[in-house]
Amino acid sequence: MTDAPAVTEDNTQSLTIRDNRTGSEYAVPITDGTIKAADLGKIRVDEETPGLAVYDPGFVNTASCRSAVTFIDGDKGILEYRGYPIEQLAEKSNFLEVAYLLIHGALPTKAEYDAWEHEITYHTFVHENVKSFMHGFRYDAHPMGMLMASVGALSTFYPDARNIDDPANRHMQIVRMIAKMPTLGAWSFRHAQGKPFVYPDNDLSYTENFLSMLFKMSEKKFEADERLVRALDVLFILHADHEQNASTNAVRSVGSTQVDPYSAVAAGVGALFGPLHGGANEAVLRMLRRIGKKENIPSFIDGVKNGNERLMGFGHRVYKNYDPRAKIIKKSAEDVFEVTGTNPLLDIALELEKIALEDEYFVQRKLYPNVDFYSGLIYEAFQFPPEMFTVLFAIGRTPGWLAQWLELVQDKEQKIARPKQIYTGERRLDFTAASERWA
Ligand SMILES: CC(C)(COP(=O)(O)OP(=O)(O)OC[C@H]1O[C@@H](n2cnc3c(N)ncnc32)[C@H](O)[C@@H]1OP(=O)(O)O)[C@@H](O)C(=O)NCCC(=O)NCCS
Repeated sequence: MTDAPAVTEDNTQSLTIRDNRTGSEYAVPITDGTIKAADLGKIRVDEETPGLAVYDPGFVNTASCRSAVTFIDGDKGILEYRGYPIEQLAEKSNFLEVAYLLIHGALPTKAEYDAWEHEITYHTFVHENVKSFMHGFRYDAHPMGMLMASVGALSTFYPDARNIDDPANRHMQIVRMIAKMPTLGAWSFRHAQGKPFVYPDNDLSYTENFLSMLFKMSEKKFEADERLVRALDVLFILHADHEQNASTNAVRSVGSTQVDPYSAVAAGVGALFGPLHGGANEAVLRMLRRIGKKENIPSFIDGVKNGNERLMGFGHRVYKNYDPRAKIIKKSAEDVFEVTGTNPLLDIALELEKIALEDEYFVQRKLYPNVDFYSGLIYEAFQFPPEMFTVLFAIGRTPGWLAQWLELVQDKEQKIARPKQIYTGERRLDFTAASERWA
């Protein structure tokens, strides 16, 4: 039996654990609704055996950090950045102000906002060598692969970014990254089309400039319909942060090694590339196209209920209620279609949502539309090819990744991310040299 002492004797805010292997009892402190995994590690059978650990693939019930950036209540469908409800930010703010809020933790004064906007605007250009190496990608390179590589490559252009302990230096890299992400994203798009890269136009707003770099041809000045600019800006706001999702976890995990922020964000772009994360809206469009017409919806739903496939754009690890972002996007879709004309797939999506929300299978499992259910339809209305959808997500998510990275590098409790494992392989096998085994 272990002689480890009880972890705490205060039982009011604690969890009493009786280890039936040894008969010992422990009172583990509860703080903020969590216990420390390290406290469990003190529970052991004897000095030789490892302490008790938690097995949690996918971190479904493990808090990896304390964070003051984003609050989500998945049961109630609440999302707040720095305490401000997403609905209010989407209605009354703009993406650059939201980026400021996420990074700095508070809304800017007029002077602070003007300085921030100026800084971001004047860092939109990239080194000419970035252009050369982006030209080196194959003609059919996926724009997410190009974005991931070019964000990572920025670390070679700004080696000073490794100095992550200096606040002014951190600020510089944050400004550079938020500013350059649309340039890299737009150029990844133009490359696939064999069109010349368009340089940033610093007279335009953040989102309008992005549209200009994407779509400008020979006209002197690119002009976009204000409603489209606003809709894209709102989409960026809605994607700006989502607490500890897979890509943010990747940014934090890589950032925990104290590498420069470009390398950490490149890891986030990689994580976002996966179909279970950023790629779901593309899957929604494929699904809607396959369904083809409303009459086919019931048989499709039957297939989903029989476990043949999933209703893409439905369900969420955290939201067990209507994703608040999906509501706002549904409204944005209407605004965009006013300009571009409607997408016939919208009717199928609306009908699919209606049927699913009334069906016992989805109701019981608390499956509601998520952010991806309608976003693909909007992106398609902009004439973005599906490969670009995740690039748009990445541009929107950049301030969130950086706010989380900033928090991480200043958090004294953080350590290099290094989970445990439960080893299931062989042990102590005798090795015979290949020359003997193959003789
Ligand atoms: C997002 C997602 C990965 C979350 O998964 P999760 O939290 O691990 O939930 P689970 O996979 O454990 O699903 C719980 C139950 O709901 C079902 N379910 C979850 N999402 C479903 C969907 N989109 N369609 C049909 N059934 C679904 C599962 O089959 C499971 O049912 P069961 O209890 O009978 O086995 C999942 O909902 C999904 O794959 N959705 C579609 C992809 C998508 O839209 N992703 C974008 C997320 S923003």
